[in-house]
Amino acid sequence: MGTNPVTRMLLVIAVLMAALTLEPVVSQAQEATGSFLPVVPKATGGESCVREPEFMRKNHISLLQHKRDLTVYDGDRTEDLSLKGCIACHAVSGTDGTPVTVADPNHFCRACHDYAAVSVDCFQCHASRPEPLDNASRSTSGHAAYTQLSDYLKEVLQ
Ligand code: HEC
Ligand code: HEC
Ligand code: HEC
Repeated sequence: MGTNPVTRMLLVIAVLMAALTLEPVVSQAQEATGSFLPVVPKATGGESCVREPEFMRKNHISLLQHKRDLTVYDGDRTEDLSLKGCIACHAVSGTDGTPVTVADPNHFCRACHDYAAVSVDCFQCHASRPEPLDNASRSTSGHAAYTQLSDYLKEVLQ
């Protein structure tokens, strides 16, 4: 292929730019050196994640959204991909030995979000730390929560 140096240079630039724009924030952070990395707390429950950790880093958002839709529209309440599951295995203990809520910057879900300046509203309704089964199920499946959710979804989906 008789590409001249200018064409080749443009190709190199194009590839670099594509790599820069396509790489998600987190893996850029992980590839970077220095002390500005998000420190992701180790899981405290289970041997392995519900999917490959690498996959989870990039795809947890669509997985959670999909699972929510399956639950709310199709009544799928299996544990796979449930937000309660994430919270159970990824609980982080505070200084008093009990799991912290999302109000604490050390919360698992905040490790990268704070770093990437992402904020999620999930924990307005969902428990952000493991709770006794009674409380956890009541807090998300009561009638009030449904009304709240349906209003919320109307707002988000319009
Ligand atoms: C306004 C309240 C509200 C907000 C905000 C909310 N949810 Fe939910 N969510 C619910 C309710 C109610 C259910 C249904 C629970 C059930 O029927 O078991 C639910 C179900 C789910 C489920 C399936 C059940 C489970 O335990 O996993 C997932 C996953 C989920 N939500 C994820 C999210 C995520 C992620 C966010 C933030 C982006 C979020 N939700 C924000 C109220 C809310
Ligand atoms: C059965 C326990 C378990 C459940 C349930 C679980 N995880 Fe994990 N998760 C793990 C383990 C173990 C790892 C491996 C890395 C570690 O030790 O933190 C991991 C890794 C991850 C990572 C990569 C962390 C990093 O170091 O970059 C993300 C992101 C993640 N999980 C998100 C989730 C989300 C979101 C859910 C809920 C849909 C979930 N996990 C459910 C156990 C679990
Ligand atoms: C390994 C890093 C990491 C961890 C740990 C992590 N997230 Fe995320 N999350 C991200 C990044 C980065 C984004 C923004 C990605 C984007 O905008 O494409 C994000 C975005 C989200 C969004 C979408 C926000 C929006 O504005 O639409 C939701 C919902 C979410 N995460 C849920 C969670 C929950 C729940 C947990 C804890 C169980 C969690 N994440 C843990 C890295 C992480």
